[in-house]
Amino acid sequence: GAVAGGGGGGPPPMYSEGLPLIGNILAFMRDPLALVRRGHAACGGVFTIRIAHKRMTFLLGAVPHAAFFRATDEQLDQTEVYRFSVPVFGKGVVYDAPLPKRLQQFRLLSLSLRVNMLETYVPMMVAECEAFFNAWADEGEVELFDALSQLIILTASRCLMGREIRENLFGQVSRLIHDLDEGMQPLSVLAPYLPTAAHRRRDAAREELRALYTPIIKARRAADADRAAGADAPAAPDDMLQTLLESRYRDGRAMDDNEVVGMLVAALFAGQHTSSITSTWTGLELLRSPTQLAAALAEQDAVRSTFGDELTYASLGAMNVLHRAMKETLRMYPPLIFLLRSVVTPRPVGGYVIPSGDVAMVSTQVSGRLPELFDEPDVWDPERFAPGREEDRRAPFSYLGFGGGRHGCMGEGFAYLQVKTIWAVLLRTFDLRAVGPLAAPDFGAMVVGPKGATTIHYRRRVPRGGDPAA
Ligand code: HEM
Repeated sequence: GAVAGGGGGGPPPMYSEGLPLIGNILAFMRDPLALVRRGHAACGGVFTIRIAHKRMTFLLGAVPHAAFFRATDEQLDQTEVYRFSVPVFGKGVVYDAPLPKRLQQFRLLSLSLRVNMLETYVPMMVAECEAFFNAWADEGEVELFDALSQLIILTASRCLMGREIRENLFGQVSRLIHDLDEGMQPLSVLAPYLPTAAHRRRDAAREELRALYTPIIKARRAADADRAAGADAPAAPDDMLQTLLESRYRDGRAMDDNEVVGMLVAALFAGQHTSSITSTWTGLELLRSPTQLAAALAEQDAVRSTFGDELTYASLGAMNVLHRAMKETLRMYPPLIFLLRSVVTPRPVGGYVIPSGDVAMVSTQVSGRLPELFDEPDVWDPERFAPGREEDRRAPFSYLGFGGGRHGCMGEGFAYLQVKTIWAVLLRTFDLRAVGPLAAPDFGAMVVGPKGATTIHYRRRVPRGGDPAA
């Protein structure tokens, strides 16, 4: 598995199979992960596959990962490979903005995901979860993935998009988000501006969303001005929308309405499917592991005796069993299976030099299962991250669920809080069991989640909205 050094500074080995020209294309379309695994077995941790006119160079293992994640934006660039997001996020936003502006936009976005903000999101997440699960019957079966996708868009709209949206415009906005989503398919990656019906609906939805936000933003800016002038105005809301409105570029300029909406959409897209998928797999695995389930239930009892019944930032932080369950789930089922960059300056790694113009690819999915990085990689075992074992600490950049380096996930803290809140509430309220076989990943999707049934059975242990001690 490790990279054989001594490539002598030449390009990485070329891996190819099947018929000339179309062999790789067919193999890649049929099962990209299997092709990458075979390339790794044949060539080691750095190799190139030619797909039509594109050269894709794969980086697998600790040393190759470091060459990817330690690169600057001037060396490995995201603009080209994430261009398909531009019609959804909007003009002048993130991957459509020149690098210096883009980096400022990311920094401004990160202000709304810092610890002080995460603390204010927790009560909103808890309220959304409790209301959502209160509406379930006393006993029944649900499709977990469907249910948690609905719940997470409610939470996201409350914490990120603002109370105005959550309380008055939720139906309208979720329809628009749906249209934006449908406009980001594998075909859209290749041809983002092809005038298909889905792309036309996408563009209309982006425009409608901006129009919907115009009066909301106007009212918020007016209240900000009142507060600044010392006039009586309600306290500023604690959400991402407000943080973005109050933020300033280095030259003192505020974001315009289109930029604010674009950043909200970008955050929503980064967090929605990834979190729905991860909370689902976490539960599906947890409910199939008697020892981990018992440990998670015991942990809820212990946390309640220390912190009381209220779920808070601190009590969620103490749930290490749930934390490791989610972390382990992301190792085995990362929703973003490939991370991409274009190579701008020739990139040395393991004795080879990746030429400029290549697309550098990391496969979180394949790397998460490499035996050189994790013991028994096909076994779901959260204890591998427990104190004393900490398999992810053996080498930098071996654990890739949230990427790494300068473009590592900004929403990691938010995502852990979200998923842990969901499972804390579920475990405290219901007896739960998994129904049927474990779903398989849907590798044909843009964001890879479970395919088919994700059924669980629940029976209410605590009366609805009631006192758990009763
Ligand atoms: C970046 C995973 C939730 C915001 C990333 C990357 C990964 C990732 C792998 C790196 C992409 C790359 O290197 O090209 C996940 C997973 C999540 C999750 C698995 C849930 C379980 C969230 C949430 C938010 C968010 C909830 C925001 C509310 C971002 C942003 C970036 C990012 C803004 C780009 C950072 C940059 O390029 O500097 N995420 N994410 N993510 N994520 Fe997440």
